[in-house]
Amino acid sequence: MTQLQALYADMQKFFQPLWPGEDKPLVLGEGNAFNPPLMLIGEAPGETEVIKRRPFVGKAGKNLDEFLSMMEMKREDIFISNVVKIRPTDIGPTGRTRNRAPNKEELALFIPWLMKEIAIVQPKALVTLGNVPLKALTDPRITIGDCHGTFMDCQAGVPLFALYHPASIIYRRALMPVYQADVLTLKEALQNTK
Ligand code: URA
Repeated sequence: MTQLQALYADMQKFFQPLWPGEDKPLVLGEGNAFNPPLMLIGEAPGETEVIKRRPFVGKAGKNLDEFLSMMEMKREDIFISNVVKIRPTDIGPTGRTRNRAPNKEELALFIPWLMKEIAIVQPKALVTLGNVPLKALTDPRITIGDCHGTFMDCQAGVPLFALYHPASIIYRRALMPVYQADVLTLKEALQNTK
């Protein structure tokens, strides 16, 4: 068993009893878990991710494919994970289950495990998507608007590069050129460190 498999087994043991009677499976990280050039960290899995038990395979997976094509990388080159590894949901006005942002309790439960995950995977750089992973790894007062497209120090001791969450660009189209410029900045920075 690898160190990462052992960590994930410990997570299953820890989280299974927390929400009795509720179906809240963990969607764990995947990809190159040995010192990859990048570890991509999202917010939390959505409906498709839970069905497939894989991060970034629903609509967000399409966004990820675009990111990878801009970076000239393959999915298996990098490690892909989320801060919160269950799908946070609530019930919308029409009675349907919908995604919601992770709450404080969920973040407090999952962040220590994320730190262990990063320590085991040892990526050369972290790329956070949106505010949730950025705040989780730096400081809750920092926002993506202030620091996207730059490398910063973080609590995990690995350089962190902040990107807007691709899903947020669907609602704010004006962010698209900003996001694309940030991805190119990241690509050039990685090429210069090769
Ligand atoms: N799917 C994920 O796995 N993470 C996100 O942040 C969004 C969708």
